[in-house]
Amino acid sequence: MIKNILSIRALLAVVVAAATATATTTTSPAPSSAAAALSSLGVSPPSGDILIWNTGYTCRLLNHVFPRNETFTAAWSQNCRLHASCIVTPKSAQEVSHLLRILSILKTKFAIRSGGHNTNPGFSSIGSNGVLIALEKLDTLSISTDHKIVTIGAGNKWQSVYEYLQPYNLTTLGGREAVVGVGGFIIGGGLSTFYNSYGLAIDSVTRFQEVLPDGTIVNASQKEHADLYKGLKGGLNNFGIVTDYDLATNTGIDIYYDIKTYTVPNTPSVLAAYATYLLDTDFLLGIGTAGLTSAGISYSGTFSYKVTGPTFLKETYEVYLKAAASLPAGAVLSYVPQGVITNLVTKGASQNGGNLLGLEAAPQVWANIFVQFPANVSQSVVTRTVDSVLDSLTSSTKSEGIFLPYIFVNDAGPNQKPLQSFGEENLKYIDAVATKYDPKVVMQKLQNKAYFVSGEV
Ligand SMILES: Cc1cc2nc3c(=O)[nH]c(=O)nc-3n(C[C@H](O)[C@H](O)[C@H](O)COP(=O)(O)OP(=O)(O)OC[C@H]3O[C@@H](n4cnc5c(N)ncnc54)[C@H](O)[C@@H]3O)c2cc1C
Ligand SMILES: *[C@@H]1O[C@H](CO)[C@@H](O)[C@H](O)[C@H]1NC(C)=O
Ligand SMILES: *[C@@H]1O[C@H](CO)[C@@H](O)[C@H](O)[C@H]1NC(C)=O
Ligand SMILES: *[C@@H]1O[C@H](CO)[C@@H](O)[C@H](O)[C@H]1NC(C)=O
Ligand SMILES: *[C@@H]1O[C@H](CO)[C@@H](O)[C@H](O)[C@H]1NC(C)=O
Repeated sequence: MIKNILSIRALLAVVVAAATATATTTTSPAPSSAAAALSSLGVSPPSGDILIWNTGYTCRLLNHVFPRNETFTAAWSQNCRLHASCIVTPKSAQEVSHLLRILSILKTKFAIRSGGHNTNPGFSSIGSNGVLIALEKLDTLSISTDHKIVTIGAGNKWQSVYEYLQPYNLTTLGGREAVVGVGGFIIGGGLSTFYNSYGLAIDSVTRFQEVLPDGTIVNASQKEHADLYKGLKGGLNNFGIVTDYDLATNTGIDIYYDIKTYTVPNTPSVLAAYATYLLDTDFLLGIGTAGLTSAGISYSGTFSYKVTGPTFLKETYEVYLKAAASLPAGAVLSYVPQGVITNLVTKGASQNGGNLLGLEAAPQVWANIFVQFPANVSQSVVTRTVDSVLDSLTSSTKSEGIFLPYIFVNDAGPNQKPLQSFGEENLKYIDAVATKYDPKVVMQKLQNKAYFVSGEV
């Protein structure tokens, strides 16, 4: 087949449609339907062949369609600061729709970024092989007349949401650190300061507005597209791009908090007290790390276990100390045993039709093993240590009969399989919703890296 027959100048359109059916190599000219599809969007491509699977071409075209091209949101972790071929910052759901249609016509890889706090390279970042969709201009905020619902554009950070709600003496279940983005935080579950009293952020969502890969903009709530709404209570970015979220507001409370730092010898007793708290009571208590910075590279992993007493918490701490001591100088390892009481699980099941996380109603810990290190430390040495700590502690939970399958998305590492951890039935539900709302599998084929449902079923 000679190359210029494959061009899609209008006269040859019919020939081309037949000729390109087998052309699947990268940067191949597009089938004639691409020209028609682009023109139906009012997009006039640069002169010459329309190319698919060619990021440079797509970016040249996007340059004309989206004049503004900057992002102020840098990825939080240094190894996620990749250089996209181009960045598009859509200003409305309509622009997201337009962009997603163009990317799917031109078969161009992309990544979606809200606040950029995910620490897995490629999840909200992409290199020269693709387009970064930075949502930061979707920064609208509004409140319902009865003040019960706040509508949050997907590009906001929690700081802006809190500042917006403060004059109403209200708050919502957002990030414990105000710099985190709303987009990834909410779909990943979302542990706020008040998670044990009020439940997960995702359970407080009453409506998502989502752009589907075919460009349709839909609302998903208990009344509209109820299956998509349910799917989004766990199914992440397998269906489309969320452009705004309705979240229930909570009465603001004036809180006074104390950060107490204990020395190493005291830590086992602190952990024992924490276990007792998780088993017995129902009041606010957070445990965590303070003073994380965005300098350097971060790597995270998570596992869950039932709390039956203080023993395992203390054991994990021993393992943590050993692993921390074995790391190269400059690497700082954190172990964050996020205690979850049964109330969080029952809140989730009873609010807005429930979620797909497959949580067991028991006192439990969603442990986060987290490491930060400068770029001059070997990444593979550090990440292997974290992965092996995760593996060995997960095995211990199994042998001690306290294993829980749940993998908390917001703390999960690049090789973990959180969707699978929700259980077979929930996973199948997510898969069915993906098949219905993205029949051409655009999200799973063109998105750079993510927890793809097809990779976990
Ligand atoms: C300093 C720090 C503090 C943290 N504190 C908390 C905490 O208190 N509680 C907690 O639960 N987690 C916390 N996390 C984890 C955090 O919730 C996750 O990193 C989350 O992914 C961040 O959301 P983001 O919008 O900033 O992420 P991004 O990196 O922008 O996105 C994360 C993922 O979500 C996808 N995504 C984002 N927006 C959309 C959208 N609108 N539609 C479809 N897909 C989308 C992205 O493609 C990506 O896969 C913290 C992380 C850091 C670094
Ligand atoms: C965005 O800017 C980069 C360089 O900063 C450029 O290579 C790219 O073509 C631009 N893309 C768009 C869509 O404007
Ligand atoms: C918020 O609370 C403060 C005192 O706690 C009160 O003075 C103020 O009127 C309240 N504002 C609203 C909008 O309710
Ligand atoms: C979704 O619902 C919101 C709030 O009711 C409305 O403003 C928006 O236009 C709706 N979107 C679509 C696509 O119907
Ligand atoms: C790595 O860089 C840090 C500064 O970020 C420096 O203090 C340290 O000495 C360096 N380590 C090595 C092994 O080069």
